[in-house]
Amino acid sequence: MVGRGWLTEGSPLTKGNLRMSLPTPTLHTARLRLRPLGDTDADDLFALQSNAFVLRYWDAPPWTERVRAERFITACSQMAEDGTGVRLAVDRVADGAFIGWCTLNRWNPDYRSASLGYCFGEFAWGHGYATEAARALLQWAFQTLDLNRVQAETDTRNVASARVLEKLGFVREGTLREDCVVNGEVSDSWVFGLIRREWRPSSEQAAGG
Ligand SMILES: CC(C)(COP(=O)(O)OP(=O)(O)OC[C@H]1O[C@@H](n2cnc3c(N)ncnc32)[C@H](O)[C@@H]1OP(=O)(O)O)[C@@H](O)C(=O)NCCC(=O)NCCS
Repeated sequence: MVGRGWLTEGSPLTKGNLRMSLPTPTLHTARLRLRPLGDTDADDLFALQSNAFVLRYWDAPPWTERVRAERFITACSQMAEDGTGVRLAVDRVADGAFIGWCTLNRWNPDYRSASLGYCFGEFAWGHGYATEAARALLQWAFQTLDLNRVQAETDTRNVASARVLEKLGFVREGTLREDCVVNGEVSDSWVFGLIRREWRPSSEQAAGG
């Protein structure tokens, strides 16, 4: 997502056909800090992504090896280098706990579109954290990347994720029939879309820092 250091609001993030890297921001909300993932997050990430219950609607099996966490962190840096997206660790400000992560990826500057994704630990569910984190990320993305559309997909059984998207203003646009196999079970996905003109940032906005 452009040359480190020269990213400014409204800047084009490509030069000619050259894709530039995109610095991963740090964002603050009332209760959360969103920041770049680092090596010290590997244990927390592994605990999260190896939890079969947390990942019961995920489109890939839970991790069984810790090395997956290290690869994931490397992939985050690569994503930023390639300028295709950002993935942010989410810490709870009150106690500094790592509670999950969220991402804006598949960024396409030509179409001005990107995809949203997130995963949070079960201990942190039900407090509005996913909505708060995703809202901050979307606010940053709409301001910084000149996006027009953000898309998200979720297993049709994942009511909590669908609700998060609805609270953010996403519109359910359709169903992808049998597009995933989750734990050996064929499943449908909903496609959600959020268009820039429909985006309503809450009164509490993310502040960079
Ligand atoms: C989906 C997920 C991110 C939600 O995180 P969260 O922090 O609990 O989300 P929020 O608290 O912001 O909002 C959840 C909403 O879903 C609702 N909800 C949760 N479970 C529900 C259920 N079984 N039925 C109906 N509503 C439900 C909550 O009540 C809340 O809505 P409300 O604010 O109107 O009351 C979290 O469960 C998670 O990380 N799951 C595992 C990974 C995953 O599935 N990621 C998404 C892949 S598409």
